[in-house]
Amino acid sequence: MRVDIITIFPDYFGTPAKGAGPLGVSLIGKAAARGELDFRLHDLRKWATDVHHTVDDTPFGGGPGMVMKPDVWGAALDDVLTGTGAVAAASAASAACAPLARLIVPTPSGTPFTQGHAAAYAAERRLVFACGRYEGIDSRVVADARSAMAVDEVSIGDYVLAGGEAAVCVILEAVCRLLPGVWGNEQSAADDSFGGGTGEEGDPMRGLLEGPVYTRPRSWRGREVPPVLLSGDHKAIARWRRDEALRRTAAVRPDLVSQMISGTAGGAAILDARDRTVLAEAGFPVDGESMAH
Ligand SMILES: C[S@@+](CC[C@H](N)C(=O)[O-])C[C@H]1O[C@@H](n2cnc3c(N)ncnc32)[C@H](O)[C@@H]1O
Repeated sequence: MRVDIITIFPDYFGTPAKGAGPLGVSLIGKAAARGELDFRLHDLRKWATDVHHTVDDTPFGGGPGMVMKPDVWGAALDDVLTGTGAVAAASAASAACAPLARLIVPTPSGTPFTQGHAAAYAAERRLVFACGRYEGIDSRVVADARSAMAVDEVSIGDYVLAGGEAAVCVILEAVCRLLPGVWGNEQSAADDSFGGGTGEEGDPMRGLLEGPVYTRPRSWRGREVPPVLLSGDHKAIARWRRDEALRRTAAVRPDLVSQMISGTAGGAAILDARDRTVLAEAGFPVDGESMAH
């Protein structure tokens, strides 16, 4: 997969192919070193035309802060998408590349980024990220790009960062670990919270958080590993894990349980009798088709 990142702080990402920076370490860094992940960093200021390499201006309508200029972003996207070095009309350049790349614009006002997005992005051949700073990017940039290619504005949470770079790292870590060959044990992703692998219908962990995990020693500071995990009974272990996932999700993310039961993540039909008992004990009585919570 090729990943282009346009930012005013390319140094934020280090040198991934040389093992430096947040995208250069761990299994993602190894994949980058092998050339399976092709990270390309672009300094937005390269497309600023004035002597000061200005990328921002005051907002129309007044108000605090600065807004990133559409002409600079348009030129950068044209150039990165076409790879020609020419600054073409935005829609013409984007149209030529539309089937090849998806543009991702992190913003707190975007759609919440989920495991479903991560799985969809992992299936793309090329991702292009636009990192905002200041008060964000002039809105016409996204509107223009959207007329010709897939564009997602996504938020990584209900808080405001200073810039999109950290959000890009979060998104890429979630995406890259799903790529074949990047992660060592694909099954470990499938067992994760939110059905970690695909989040697809029928995934028993879909919409659930993962329960507690343990390793050696069996006894540590007087705290014992749950006996069922030492039993060797795989069916009982799977059942215990699902019980714990249901309990934890009910305790810390009741919204996910509501979604699961109401159908967004598969509906009450995916719950068996034991699931219903566990949820009822956790304060979520599931009554046939629906629930009262
Ligand atoms: C200070 S923020 C701009 C906030 C914007 N004025 C607003 O209130 O929606 C600057 C940049 O940080 C990034 N950013 C901040 N919070 C984010 C979040 N929760 N998710 C994704 N990106 C975020 C975006 O790239 C954004 O353009």
